[in-house]
Amino acid sequence: MSMLQKIDPKVIQENAIKLIGEEWMLIAAGNADRFNMMTASWGMMGFLWNKPVVTVFVRPQRYTFEFMENNAYFTLDFLGKENRKALNVCGSISGRCANKIEKSGLIPGFTLLGNPFFEEARLVLECKKIYADWLKEDAFWEKTPITESYPEKDFHKIYVGEIVNAWMKK
Ligand SMILES: Cc1cc2nc3c(=O)[nH]c(=O)nc-3n(C[C@H](O)[C@H](O)[C@H](O)COP(=O)(O)O)c2cc1C
Repeated sequence: MSMLQKIDPKVIQENAIKLIGEEWMLIAAGNADRFNMMTASWGMMGFLWNKPVVTVFVRPQRYTFEFMENNAYFTLDFLGKENRKALNVCGSISGRCANKIEKSGLIPGFTLLGNPFFEEARLVLECKKIYADWLKEDAFWEKTPITESYPEKDFHKIYVGEIVNAWMKK
């Protein structure tokens, strides 16, 4: 956490639409012995149940899904636009088939709670799972996302996590 300074999530000035949708992020979960990360560009950041929260969406076929299911925490790691190559690597190959740390060149670190983050990140959010459930086909009011995003009916699982710690690059 050398380059990172602990912050209150309330001081994050970023526009979440641009931050998540354009800069992208890594979702990482696991521990020092076994962890995985993947690129994500869909998600939310906000306030729910009187807590600062994020919501992320993970498809069941992702290797990261196993780690999301089996761990109480996950981190969101914002690498900035200069680490696009690493984000493309982590968004196109699976940790099941390749060593994504080697291929991306990212340097993992671990929080005091033991959760993985990346030294390259300019913003790290450590999140504690509060709620998880599947998107359900019959709950879509608007049907176009079903045909556009789920031709295989591989609906995402939704994870709402409380931001318990946040760090930003000095
Ligand atoms: C820009 C971008 C955004 C992505 N967003 C998501 C997402 O929000 N949810 C998801 O399940 N997969 C998303 N993916 C796909 C995963 O990152 C990709 O399938 C990755 O290889 C999964 O790795 P894993 O099997 O090691 O978990 C995205 C990929 C890219 C390139």
